[in-house]
Amino acid sequence: MRTIIATAMWVATSFLGVAGAHAQSSAVSTSVTIRADQPGATISRNIYGQFAEHLGAGIYEGIWVGEDSQIPNTRGYRNDVVEALKKLKVPVVRWPGGCFADEYHWREGIGPREQRPIKVNTHWGGVEEPNTFGTHEFLDFAELIGADAYVSANAGSGTAQEMADWAEYITADNNSSLAQLRRKNGREKPWRLPFFGVGNETWGCGGNMRVEYWADLYRHMQTFVKAPADNRPIKVASGANGDDYHWTEVMLAQAAKFMDAYSVHYYTRPRQEKWEDKGPSTGFPEAEWASTLKNALFADELLKRHSAIMDKYDPQKRIGLYFDEWGTWYDPEPGRNPGFLWQQNTLRDSLVAALTLNVLHRQADRVRMANIAQMVNVLQAMILTDRQKMILTPTYHLFGMYIPFQDATFLPAEFKSPEYRNGDTVLPAVDVSAARGKDGKIHIALVNTDPNRGAAITTKIAGAKGKGGVTGRVLTAAAMDAHNTFDKPNVVQPAAFKAQRKGDEVIANLPPKSVVVLTLE
Ligand code: AHR
Repeated sequence: MRTIIATAMWVATSFLGVAGAHAQSSAVSTSVTIRADQPGATISRNIYGQFAEHLGAGIYEGIWVGEDSQIPNTRGYRNDVVEALKKLKVPVVRWPGGCFADEYHWREGIGPREQRPIKVNTHWGGVEEPNTFGTHEFLDFAELIGADAYVSANAGSGTAQEMADWAEYITADNNSSLAQLRRKNGREKPWRLPFFGVGNETWGCGGNMRVEYWADLYRHMQTFVKAPADNRPIKVASGANGDDYHWTEVMLAQAAKFMDAYSVHYYTRPRQEKWEDKGPSTGFPEAEWASTLKNALFADELLKRHSAIMDKYDPQKRIGLYFDEWGTWYDPEPGRNPGFLWQQNTLRDSLVAALTLNVLHRQADRVRMANIAQMVNVLQAMILTDRQKMILTPTYHLFGMYIPFQDATFLPAEFKSPEYRNGDTVLPAVDVSAARGKDGKIHIALVNTDPNRGAAITTKIAGAKGKGGVTGRVLTAAAMDAHNTFDKPNVVQPAAFKAQRKGDEVIANLPPKSVVVLTLE
């Protein structure tokens, strides 16, 4: 028998083996102590960030339909999507890529739209890129939804001068030629530029570089990214591909003092042997439910190991670790352009999101931004659109339930998890994350990964009195691959959840394959 104790540092020592030996239908049970007397780091709202790339219908159709569209819009941005994103309180959006950013020349996306050059989106389907959505359109969109802008600049085919000019164009408040050009193009005041990415996946589509070369090139290029003192962006160094810890070692050893943040990308796939065979987004067997959730939980080890390397060079934790591309990546949907990365989003995706966000909460002292890939119509999307129709995905609903964790104070949770086993795949059946929200209330996220058995979870709060009520919401469905469609948009959506309060304990009976978020009044 092994035991899981989740603390501020997610100390997973072992499992309590109760699954497998029991009838499939019997619920497992566990007790949780929330340590309100041991508050941890602030959970940056920016770990709820999103990523929007010029890829498939991610920008064109998904966000931008143009002012003349029949689809209701505000200055070209579709109203339904904007409203949905506002409700989600999206803190930050990364744009324009991804691999698209590695070939993006910002000057082609400013000025009169009809005069902008048409390029080929070489990475994503070879389709025409009209450059209609450029710097002004993105930064105005970010303002419209109330999000901070994270501009990801081209260190692949671009130059240091081009990168420097982009930062100046956005931020200059004087009469420089670039500031005047911005004004001529319709924007009088500079925009705020909180985050500036130098390079993207420079180990791959961003230039196929060796890290030794990239560390020097990063030092070189970032030198010229300048902005007024009151609008100076956090400079994000393009970092490792998944578990390439050597990349982090060299980048930190060679360039730590030149970066404010360091990025890591990792995608969750059900099958990991071959990139060409990832597994489908729907109609999958239970084995792929289990492997997907287990692979999502790998983010815990991954980020800890990158953080440990960063600790060697930056023990004060000045540099943020940004998980600025994460999420599920499945096989292309039959009948759709494989270069567009459109995939369905099921209940399984919402559990991937819950487990990942819980990992990020636990590592909040170092991980200060994450950007789910992607916002609309691409990979683990929040929103799917089909011409004038729009649906919210299970992942969208999960992010909605987790809003109280934005900028909340992490509270360690101690518990012994039963295990969920499918064949050789074993993972914790229960995961828990708690925080004291900015509203002063304690919020608790409970995840039951087992698709066959309920979980009875008894929670105590150490160090806080609370005899008030408890409210809750649950996200679950009948099938593992339950999803929303344009004909049936509400198959998966949050419902009210009743937990009982007995003395100083809260008892929650989670259905199989579910996420519950409780708020203690
Ligand atoms: O999100 C899709 C792609 O995944 C991005 O363009 C790239 O950075 C990553 O490999």
